[in-house]
Amino acid sequence: METVNLGLIGGGTVGGGVIRALRRNGALMASRLGVNLAIRRVAVRTPRKHQDLDLPEGVLTTDWRQVVEDPQVQIVVELAGGTTAARDMVLAALRLGKPVVTANKALLSAHGPELFRTAAQHGANLYYEASVAGGIPIIKVLRESLVGNRVVSLAGIVNGTCNYILTRMKLEGIEFNEVLAEAQRLGYAEAEPSLDVDGHDAAHKTGILASLAHGFWVDPKSIHTEGIRQISRLDIQFATRLGYTIKLLGVIKTFEAAPSGKKKPARKKAVDGPRIQVAVYPALIPNTHVLASVNHAFNAISVRGDIVGDTLFYGRGAGADATASSVLSDLADAALDLKHRSVERVPCFVAHSSDSRVVPMEEVVSRYYLRLEVIDQPGVFARISALLARAKIGISSIIQPEGHAGETVPVILMIHDASNAAMQKALKQIARLNVVRAEPVLIRVEPFE
Ligand code: NAP
Ligand code: HSE
Repeated sequence: METVNLGLIGGGTVGGGVIRALRRNGALMASRLGVNLAIRRVAVRTPRKHQDLDLPEGVLTTDWRQVVEDPQVQIVVELAGGTTAARDMVLAALRLGKPVVTANKALLSAHGPELFRTAAQHGANLYYEASVAGGIPIIKVLRESLVGNRVVSLAGIVNGTCNYILTRMKLEGIEFNEVLAEAQRLGYAEAEPSLDVDGHDAAHKTGILASLAHGFWVDPKSIHTEGIRQISRLDIQFATRLGYTIKLLGVIKTFEAAPSGKKKPARKKAVDGPRIQVAVYPALIPNTHVLASVNHAFNAISVRGDIVGDTLFYGRGAGADATASSVLSDLADAALDLKHRSVERVPCFVAHSSDSRVVPMEEVVSRYYLRLEVIDQPGVFARISALLARAKIGISSIIQPEGHAGETVPVILMIHDASNAAMQKALKQIARLNVVRAEPVLIRVEPFE
């Protein structure tokens, strides 16, 4: 049987997972593929930390170039993380015409166009199933399985760390900081946890999904991104009372402009498709929606195609084994491409347009949950609702727990459809009222109608 030699850069959570998974299921894969996958070199920074990988003498190195440049290595697997050295690693391998497998969404987000261009120029391919949603094969779904569909909408829980934190905050009533350390210990969190909790990791993944779904490279700068630091136990409790669960969502939607009396100036006709909204934010989702019950480090992505209708993909979004499973899938594709000399059978990225069609968030219309800390005194509601009314923003319901005169109390307002621009403007005025005593918390509501 033909053997394909692999060179891994990184032997940490994911790299270690891949080595162990190949040890466990390598023979099974060989029997399925007719190709034997053999690990020839592994680069790490500190070999003594990796004795447990139990690799044969001479496999470990501290120099990633020895992996990439080894003439025996046919596929390079980048599992080091980061965007600087990792970019050099991937470019060096592609320039040698070697296929590359990566789990590095930050790298793709920062340098995707350059990497895809280099792959095409050198007749190599770049595989990145593990970069989005851990073990869920969502890249294959968008690029191959749903190729006959226009993607109408996609909503995903794509960050395991945030989902783990929000789940434990809800189920156990604990605060954000107490749970983050646990997510780090379990190997879900990025080396720099702000990538997770401030929404950047989810934005990297959502950008990759939006690019694949809509056929043009979505510039990460055009993705409106919010994280979960501002969500408190109190918000989770109020959301529960109202029949909602708070989740960090990646949202990709075909944009529908708000109905308005005014005639808008004609916009250049989008030749290649509709304008789209691409954003990451925490959202209240109805408890009846399936995404509300996706808990802990699990991810789920719901995709609506114009032909297929609604589809749902669920699985572990982070951790060594789940991510290794996606790397193995890419290794199988890369090995079969080498075996059959069909490198471009599935191109790494299918662009059919170079024009960005991402709508600025200000134009997007949302519903909202607004929590204010206000002094409990007569006339407070009247002042807040007057500001909202002046901005033509409607309130659909109000909750105020019983308080004591003169003390601060939380007030929850559920707000009808309003553009993000109008809502932000009204919010600034509300925050300036002398009866409002803390930074307002504004969370969008995704009704999934
Ligand atoms: P990790 O545990 O920190 O492992 C990184 C590995 O890369 C370590 O073995 C490290 O060596 C090695 N490394 C880093 N820089 C290197 C260099 N310049 N030369 C040689 N080796 C180098 O990270 P991870 O969690 O496995 O993540 C790896 C990648 O997978 C990241 O892009 C991450 O975003 C992505 N990812 C992770 C998960 C997850 O659940 N963890 C899921 C999906 C995708 P030392 O150990 O010796 O320092
Ligand atoms: N830090 C990422 C997460 C790892 O928590 O989802 C998987 O990409």
